[in-house]
Amino acid sequence: MGRKFVVGGNWKMNGDKNQINEIVNNLKKGPLDPNVEVVIGVPAIYLAYVKSILPDTISASAQNCWKSAKGAFTGEISPAMIKDVGCEWVILGHSERRAIFGEKDDLVAEKVAHALESGLKVIACIGETLEEREAGKTEEVVFRQTKALIPAIGSNWDKVVLAYEPVWAIGTGKTASPQQAQEVHAALRNWLATNVSAEVAAAVRIQYGGSVTSANAKELAAAADIDGFLVGGASLKPEFVDIVNAKQ
Ligand code: G3P
Repeated sequence: MGRKFVVGGNWKMNGDKNQINEIVNNLKKGPLDPNVEVVIGVPAIYLAYVKSILPDTISASAQNCWKSAKGAFTGEISPAMIKDVGCEWVILGHSERRAIFGEKDDLVAEKVAHALESGLKVIACIGETLEEREAGKTEEVVFRQTKALIPAIGSNWDKVVLAYEPVWAIGTGKTASPQQAQEVHAALRNWLATNVSAEVAAAVRIQYGGSVTSANAKELAAAADIDGFLVGGASLKPEFVDIVNAKQ
């Protein structure tokens, strides 16, 4: 049984109701490959609205959450609230959460654990900075970030998608080459086989993220260990349909 291709669109802190309506209408028009799972990462304030207008074939995801169900955490949202508005996914550990908001591996792991315990599915983000890559530390970094997630995920690997997003490719237009991305995806899958299990390594889907566009998606999608994408800027544009359909 192959791994179902899964394409995430991470809108980040972008959009208003007019733009959201345009994007969703574009997705409805598609046509989208029915064999591809599509998950849209929506700003929290619009989650309920987007869920109300999305077709059932497309999932809505939060872009972050806190590590408990409720309490004195001003400004945060919980997995319980994400589920309460009918959404099933949350993106966690995005490099912007790590770099801008100071999230470290242990906090990301606590968030992943609570989100899974709460019944959400998780897109867990990992990836190295340019300095780390240039220092030859890419695998060291992504293995370290993934290792921190193992106790948090436990037996819930079927509810997790890993998103390898080299930080130097995010928002820069400097997409990793298919060879560069495949190399890290394959190394990560081999690492999972050794450090988790052969079954998990074979089954877990690993998305590539970082300047994916309709121009480069097909070549990236052809790589053996790239099981989908986590798309930022291009997810706000009509070309996102072509990215979803990149395997066709
Ligand atoms: O989460 C996806 C995002 O970080 C990639 O952004 O704009 O390079 O596709 P972008």
